[in-house]
Amino acid sequence: MHPLTAGRILSKRHVSRSWYFHSFRNLFTDKRGWTISTSSTCWCSYKDVNRGSGGISTCFVGRSKSKFSPITVNRRLSTTGTISLSGKNAADIKTISGGIELRTDNDLLTLPFIWLRDHCRCQICYNYKTNQKKVENLDCDLSIEPRSVEYDGVQLSLIWPDDHKTTFETDWLLSHVFHSGYKKKVPFFLWNKDVMTANPPPRIGYEDHMNTSMALKRSIFNILKFGYTIVTQVPLTIEDTREVIEKVSPVSRTLFGEMWSFTSDEARGDTAYTNIALGAHTDASYYNIPAGIQVFHCLEHDGSGGETLLLDGFNAAERLQKIDPAAFDILTRTVIPHEYIEPGHNFHSLGTVLTQHPTTGEMLNIRFNPYDRAPLYTVPPDKVQEFYRAYQALSTEIKNKDNEFWIKLEPGMVLFIDNWRVLHGRAAFTGKRVITGCYLSRDDLMSTARVLQIL
Ligand SMILES: [Fe+2]
Ligand SMILES: [Zn+2]
Repeated sequence: MHPLTAGRILSKRHVSRSWYFHSFRNLFTDKRGWTISTSSTCWCSYKDVNRGSGGISTCFVGRSKSKFSPITVNRRLSTTGTISLSGKNAADIKTISGGIELRTDNDLLTLPFIWLRDHCRCQICYNYKTNQKKVENLDCDLSIEPRSVEYDGVQLSLIWPDDHKTTFETDWLLSHVFHSGYKKKVPFFLWNKDVMTANPPPRIGYEDHMNTSMALKRSIFNILKFGYTIVTQVPLTIEDTREVIEKVSPVSRTLFGEMWSFTSDEARGDTAYTNIALGAHTDASYYNIPAGIQVFHCLEHDGSGGETLLLDGFNAAERLQKIDPAAFDILTRTVIPHEYIEPGHNFHSLGTVLTQHPTTGEMLNIRFNPYDRAPLYTVPPDKVQEFYRAYQALSTEIKNKDNEFWIKLEPGMVLFIDNWRVLHGRAAFTGKRVITGCYLSRDDLMSTARVLQIL
């Protein structure tokens, strides 16, 4: 280890008569002569903290051998030797720094003690009438360790220093801890043109969708799995369309109102209100939280063309991740603006083009609307070219005809599209074409899915 040249307390908190918790900054000089700064946290006895030059000299007694690892000395309890452990099998449970590793039938879970204490679901810590926690995290002792841990293969039980008892079911832990192998109940079925042509989601009839919970579940399941679903034989009125939609979720109010209806009369400042072709895009990119679901119902069309393009954005993103991981990475990190401007409205959003689930890395959202991009003031000049290169790489994937799935929306077909995943577009058309539809919030859809136990 290279000589410590300085140390500075950033904050300290007197937590009991004898103990301080504090964070501090260390400055080291390495053998190249570079100054290295690390932040650390440390428990020290009151006496230690106040002894020595500057009150912190004793914090560095146990200097780390690694230049970036935090230094911790005078832990209140040693991790091993003070906790009573018992498991069904000796290998079920072992202590690690600040927590335990628990081996269940199929998984190895890493469980920090502070997380286990904070998530106690006993009657004292959790209100089962309101389904809310009763404790704030400020109450948690950051270095808490239990007196005993017991695992019988079904339940994990801990007894804390104040005799408080916490018990978890294994299944609850499996579905709530940080776990990169976490499996969704409805996995994505990723598709391109050929895959979708061979495996289209089953269409649901109007009567079934309205009157049977099985059919309604299937409609929602299709959205979660394929990114879209179609209800057929719906009466050709806005009111009936709304009733079909409201089985799934309340209608969201946006700048277009609730149920909108449009034709090619250029009534609004959006290309949708013309009869020209529209490339694949997601809608409402100019909202900080883009609309979750888009619904279309073609009420009337007396001309030709106007076919609807669907494209699985998550499939395109996954392919990009494989063939150009650098571009994928840039699009998950670079925040760009989108906007919608017309008299009386001026919307502006900030967000990444691609968003991943923080735990699993699965795709969570694609925001792709070349038409609604606002002036790019969020990217520093030296990163502009690499951003455009990454955006072009994704656009190339999205323009790939092998990924395009086209359908002709006939009157009576209500199409629900997952606007966080599936891009839509439209062929140019002739004649009078009247479309009604609306947006739904993704939170409302997911809530319905959980209530129906699809998720
Ligand atoms: Fe659109
Ligand atoms: Zn409790």
